[in-house]
Amino acid sequence: MNAPTALNKVLDLIATTAAQTPDDAHAMPPQVYASPELWELEKERILRQEWYCVGRDTDFSVSGDYLSLTLLDEPVVVWRGADDQLRAMSNICRHRNALITEQGTGNKRVLVCPYHKWTYEDNGQLRGAPDVPEHFDKSAICLPQYPLEIWQGFVFVSLSAEPAPLAPRLGSLEELVGDTRMDQFAWSFRVPEKSLRANWKIMVENGMDGYHVAYVHPKTLGTNIQRIDSPWGDGQWNTSCERRNEPWPEHADDPQGLSELNRINTYTIGVFPLLLFSLDCHCLIWYSIFPVSADECVVRAGVAARSPDKLCSVGSPEPVDPQEYMQWVTELLGEDAPIVEGIQRAVQTDKAGCGPLIKGQEDNLQFFYRYLARHLCSQ
Ligand code: FES
Ligand SMILES: [Fe+2]
Repeated sequence: MNAPTALNKVLDLIATTAAQTPDDAHAMPPQVYASPELWELEKERILRQEWYCVGRDTDFSVSGDYLSLTLLDEPVVVWRGADDQLRAMSNICRHRNALITEQGTGNKRVLVCPYHKWTYEDNGQLRGAPDVPEHFDKSAICLPQYPLEIWQGFVFVSLSAEPAPLAPRLGSLEELVGDTRMDQFAWSFRVPEKSLRANWKIMVENGMDGYHVAYVHPKTLGTNIQRIDSPWGDGQWNTSCERRNEPWPEHADDPQGLSELNRINTYTIGVFPLLLFSLDCHCLIWYSIFPVSADECVVRAGVAARSPDKLCSVGSPEPVDPQEYMQWVTELLGEDAPIVEGIQRAVQTDKAGCGPLIKGQEDNLQFFYRYLARHLCSQ
């Protein structure tokens, strides 16, 4: 019989950990965050198949607004056309493969490749190329497109030609929080992105983990939030919940049918594999993780609210100034960074282990573990 490969050993550990009951739940073993073989399988089974959240619909508020970024190793530009359509397309010039736009955001009517000035329309079609012969057929040249889906105002892009649609897998989450009408949050902004020397799953788990909040974020998030002792979840998502001491006061532009519970709850939601957001009935903060390599990821984050005066920091009923709010979200990320980067250094040593998950605090991580096992451990 063949000896099990390093990858098979890691997959066995993932399957065993994912199958543990809440009374016997443990963290994933360190190899899961450090194995180069597992990273290759994750790319094939998850990261090239699933959806990346690239922001809110309202982050691309007028035609011409774009975001240029790298998904795994693919340069992609997400761009709102003059026809109001949001599209995701390759950022690689069809001439000789120069990158067309630099990474970041902006607003352009056309994209011009810096190398020989080929010019593309906002649907990816080649509009012009200097000095080409008369018979040159521009109409045959178009930037390759990627699937794009909008769910509850979040914009998702996939590298797969035929990804499984996301919305049908999130029906039970919509039942829980759909009455907040986050799809109608009309105002949003992005926070500067941050690179982390950490495996993507460490950052994803950190975003789902309410246990650390009072200890890592006492200044930014406060310590007097009441946690509700029951994680919820389904195949594609999980949540834990905090409850304010007082419901938000009723307001004229509250959505119709908002439940009393969702006037008082703040949810921390993971949409697997890469999106995390905290949601109350007025606003949300999202974090989207972009894996780069087995030990590096980029975090993009942003805020969306019903209107700018509905920005409220957790625990405070007073509206918050948007500039201050951006600073606050940036600080939050900065508080997590040394922790997750420290974990990455630790999982590469032989003294790293896998301690127990604390029931009612961390057991919502098991939904994510089961998601990983389902995608990685099946044949
Ligand atoms: S590579 Fe873009 S115009 Fe030549
Ligand atoms: Fe945190």
